[in-house]
Amino acid sequence: MNDTFLKACRGEKTDYTPVWIMRQAGRYLPAYQKVRSKVDFLTLCKTPELAAEVTMQPVDILKTDAAILFSDILIPVEAMGMKLEFSESKGPILYDPIRDEVGVLKLSSITPEKDVPFVAEAVRLLKSSLNVPLIGFSGAPFTLATYMIEGGSSRNYINIKKMMYQAPELFSDLMDKITDTVIVYLQAQIDAGVDAVQIFDSWAGVLSPTDFEIFALKYVKRIIAELKAKSNIPVIYFAFNGSAMLDKVKQSGADVLGLDWRIEMSEAVGIIGTDAAVQGNLDPCTLFGDRTLIRDRASKVLAGARGAKGHVFNLGHGILPEIPYENAIALVEEVHELSSR
Ligand code: CP3
Repeated sequence: MNDTFLKACRGEKTDYTPVWIMRQAGRYLPAYQKVRSKVDFLTLCKTPELAAEVTMQPVDILKTDAAILFSDILIPVEAMGMKLEFSESKGPILYDPIRDEVGVLKLSSITPEKDVPFVAEAVRLLKSSLNVPLIGFSGAPFTLATYMIEGGSSRNYINIKKMMYQAPELFSDLMDKITDTVIVYLQAQIDAGVDAVQIFDSWAGVLSPTDFEIFALKYVKRIIAELKAKSNIPVIYFAFNGSAMLDKVKQSGADVLGLDWRIEMSEAVGIIGTDAAVQGNLDPCTLFGDRTLIRDRASKVLAGARGAKGHVFNLGHGILPEIPYENAIALVEEVHELSSR
């Protein structure tokens, strides 16, 4: 197996900088669209053979140094008992959003082998055919709570913030339940064979640094501490829009910190030091530029990460459906060439 990605996560020397792309399996790839035209998104997530097929597509087409399991952060939320739907126009919808004690009490704990058996099955299928490491993932408790309380995507996060500030005990009961779920969910992926895990905190950046510490970070710390007590696989924590609170993000205990593009890589490395490796942080829209521009911006990210404990090249958030996939291929080639030592 090509273990360059795992070495970079651990801060070991590598021959070149490994690269993968958040949301690398998805609609910008014609090969994904072909599979997706026959089944809806949730069916795709829950059919191990198809999930494995689309997981492998970007590894074959882009030549990335890692695969990420094809699934969604809301799969365990559905397993906790909420009704989930993906609408083409509105994105995810969770029915009967959690607003009170009754809502929190109704949520069940999950048994992954029973409630989401397709996840471990897809991991096992993938492990027998992949020649790069497989990344498992989960949403972070705060990000999952935003969907569960708002009922879907949100603009101002008013309902979750109301609960945080008006009913902090209820909020913490909910967060404890979600945290327990995330731990067993990630542990099941690790037991099935994933080589690393990423915790997506996509909406952490809507919190002030103080509230991030009180309402989000402590739960992430518990997840990472409990996973680390059982195994030593790399944990990546990605707090999107978290550049203004990296001093706090780095207390998470993660081996690798994901970075968005709103901070210069060199500045982020200055804050993180050698406490953790870094992942990122090219603006996904850079891939609308031509090859010369992509090469220029990629080389700046690589140069900025020179003093880091380790660097996994990635975009600063997921690739967009509108991006030409040829430019994603070009990015991976350029990163490999520019960084070869
Ligand atoms: O390739 C990969 O990265 C693995 C698959 C993956 C998906 N979602 C597939 C997906 C991963 C890691 C996710 C994580 C996820 N899901 C996040 C965190 C990452 C981030 O972007 O911040 C979030 C917030 C979600 C919730 C979610 N899922 C939303 C808001 C949407 C709708 C927006 C959109 O992009 O359509 C989804 C749908 C989704 N998840 C798609 C894919 C490929 C598109 C579904 C389709 O095929 O129609």
